[in-house]
Amino acid sequence: MSKGGYNHAVVRLAILVGPNSRGSNMESIALACSRGALHAEVAVVVAPREGCPAAQRAGELGLDTIALDPTHTGYADALLNLFEEERVDAVCLAGFLRLLPIRVVRVYAGRIVNIHPALLPRHGGKGMFGRHVHEAVLAAGDQESGCTVHFVTEAYDEGAILLQCTCPVEPDDTPESLAERVHKLERKAYPEALRKLLDHRFAKV
Ligand code: GRF
Repeated sequence: MSKGGYNHAVVRLAILVGPNSRGSNMESIALACSRGALHAEVAVVVAPREGCPAAQRAGELGLDTIALDPTHTGYADALLNLFEEERVDAVCLAGFLRLLPIRVVRVYAGRIVNIHPALLPRHGGKGMFGRHVHEAVLAAGDQESGCTVHFVTEAYDEGAILLQCTCPVEPDDTPESLAERVHKLERKAYPEALRKLLDHRFAKV
């Protein structure tokens, strides 16, 4: 990809993970950046606390990581200050299961994306995360599932869809086997979706 195609020398990403994130989406984004598949770099990983699995993985990958507790009242300010200091252009949620503060959503409108382990608008919304999603897919008798990368708004899982990847639901699937299949898809889907975002949002017109 031509470096000259973008306004920024390199698009700087913040990745927000959750307390139970394994960090595999974070890792696939970081690897896509380091091998040049994405004209971007991970400016900072934001974890809810030090020592959680994704923060540990970020450390192993040599990514700058900071712990900010999303339940603190100063979270929005802390995040916006950090993003300014780190010159963050776009934000990726990777296992961050909360609503982002409205101010952050507004400042970064159209530049925050999330990955959801189902084909939105099916099986999204408050409380639909992890195992709950795959249980709902199986209970509904869906023939296929997959993952969705979408823009983040002030509501859960409602922003415009950037990219979806599908996989079959097998007759003998359990929530765990389906989760594993979808999780594998996510590793390809997130970098691909970010490439689309970079091409549209950060390309020179
Ligand atoms: C993924 O399944 C993603 O869809 C959801 O949180 C999970 C994060 O997984 N939003 P990982 O930490 O990237 O492995």
